[in-house]
Amino acid sequence: MRTQRKKGLVGCVVSLILLAVVVRQWTPGVSNVGDSEKSIESVKEKLRQSSLQYLNSYDSIPYHIKRSVTGSLPKNGCACEGDAGQLKVPFGDLLFPRVAAQELGSAAGDPHLEDLKKRRRQAYNSFRRRSQSAADILVVAEANSPLQYPTQGVEVRPKKSTLIPGLGLKHRSRRLYSVNLTASMGTFNVAAQVEGVVVRGEGTMHMNVSSSLLSALNWQLQFITYTNDIFHPNTADMIQFGTDGFQATFTIKIRHNVTPKLYDPGPRGEYNISALVTIATKTFLRYDKLQDLISSIRQFYPTVTIVIADDSEHPKPVTGPYIEHYIMPFGKGWFAGRNLAVSQVATKYVLWVDDDFIFTSNTRLEKMVDVLERTTLDLVGGAVREVTGYTATYRHTISSEEGGEEGNCLHMRRGFHHVIEGFPNCVVSDAVINFFMARTDKVRQVGFDPRLARVAHLEFFVDGLGTLHVGSCDDVIVNHASKIKGMLPWGQSDTDKAYSNFRYPEKSNIQNTLYYFKNHFKCITSN
Ligand SMILES: *[C@@H]1O[C@H](CO)[C@@H](O)[C@H](O)[C@H]1NC(C)=O
Ligand SMILES: *[C@@H]1O[C@H](CO)[C@@H](O)[C@H](O)[C@H]1NC(C)=O
Ligand SMILES: *[C@@H]1O[C@H](CO)[C@@H](O)[C@H](O)[C@H]1NC(C)=O
Repeated sequence: MRTQRKKGLVGCVVSLILLAVVVRQWTPGVSNVGDSEKSIESVKEKLRQSSLQYLNSYDSIPYHIKRSVTGSLPKNGCACEGDAGQLKVPFGDLLFPRVAAQELGSAAGDPHLEDLKKRRRQAYNSFRRRSQSAADILVVAEANSPLQYPTQGVEVRPKKSTLIPGLGLKHRSRRLYSVNLTASMGTFNVAAQVEGVVVRGEGTMHMNVSSSLLSALNWQLQFITYTNDIFHPNTADMIQFGTDGFQATFTIKIRHNVTPKLYDPGPRGEYNISALVTIATKTFLRYDKLQDLISSIRQFYPTVTIVIADDSEHPKPVTGPYIEHYIMPFGKGWFAGRNLAVSQVATKYVLWVDDDFIFTSNTRLEKMVDVLERTTLDLVGGAVREVTGYTATYRHTISSEEGGEEGNCLHMRRGFHHVIEGFPNCVVSDAVINFFMARTDKVRQVGFDPRLARVAHLEFFVDGLGTLHVGSCDDVIVNHASKIKGMLPWGQSDTDKAYSNFRYPEKSNIQNTLYYFKNHFKCITSN
């Protein structure tokens, strides 16, 4: 019992010293965004150190590592590894897909690689500064703290005030009860003054509340307000809440109310596809294929709007009711065209199709709308049927593994996460085929990088990772006009030939350059 008390005392002293260091190093002052960032950084460091202290005190107790579990924990930096060995049989790669790994840093093809790395590091650090807030910091609540406080859910509008709910103190009896509150992006005040309580530092970033009566102090704590002073549209302030010997940390989110963008679905009943969906496509040279697509759409959806982005060298007119044809500079490219087309969509949903697709009675857009309306998905892919009868959904899962200084690892695998309840033909994944319906504003939020001019598709889903909630249904099917025939030299018409010369030029390195610099990857693995 005595040794325990002694240990507790030592613990107290250690945390007091740490606390003193925190308070000394952390001197909020001038209202300046850089300052608040710095103070948050130092709090972060101290919090990390204090949790390490606890770990050290267990050192002497024996333990056994469970490899089966540690194997699935994030490693200290990802390694760029694929499956070893290759099956030397015909179609071996098709039958037994292997995971291939590709290093990006060395392949970025820049003779001044060190300079490139330096610029990437700077760009990445500034991205992290912009995208992180105090709400992302690990906070540990110490054991047996007499402090009561809200761990999450306190929110304030920029430059506005709020009451801080849930503050309290549960101390054993003493002569004077007191608490401290410290902020870095705003100030404290009280909405009412309780008798028998002394409040110091009203209207500042540091407030001290004390009373000889615990109930009076707790009553006073119900009236504490926080006012945000340093403007930021979306961040968090870290509040230090302390009493003698104990310290707690919690965050207050500072953000504007998100402005919704709602679409009027029209009168209830059946889904009105013309009111809800715009079909977007990009064309280049292949006017015959485009005309087939339009005619097939009109059989089923005579009044749905079709937006066409066209970067042909000698554009031909494409006219008709509910058709918008946008001419772009010659050869602007694939993702630039997708961007342009999507930017002109005025409906809630956009359906992406390639210009060589053909609608059939299996292309039921109502079904995609239904999935999007009744789930939290942002984007749902369908299936594309080749002339051979083969149907593809191209489902992939994507993940990004922490990799440190050199960049992260991008992992892409065929497959999906799980079946969607109530929709037996639909699954959740991270990427799908280039026949999909999506919430228009979510697609715009991710955007199609116009630097990807020729062959590109998965890049959009990599950019959208963590933003887009993606699904795939294999019972909404569009037909692909004879691609196989078009790809073989003897089956090609003149425009087909010109098209494939343009679309499939010598292998360009732009994808890898973007993965390396823009997305901060050092490695890609895929199967
Ligand atoms: C409370 O604030 C006072 C004055 O700034 C400071 O001396 C003291 O260490 C603080 N106590 C705690 C527990 O933070
Ligand atoms: C609040 O101020 C009083 C008087 O200066 C001081 O005794 C007390 O320690 C302070 N409270 C905290 C939690 O530091
Ligand atoms: C469907 O929407 C279109 C475009 O908003 C509108 O012109 C049409 O009248 C609607 N049809 C029905 C049946 O409500």
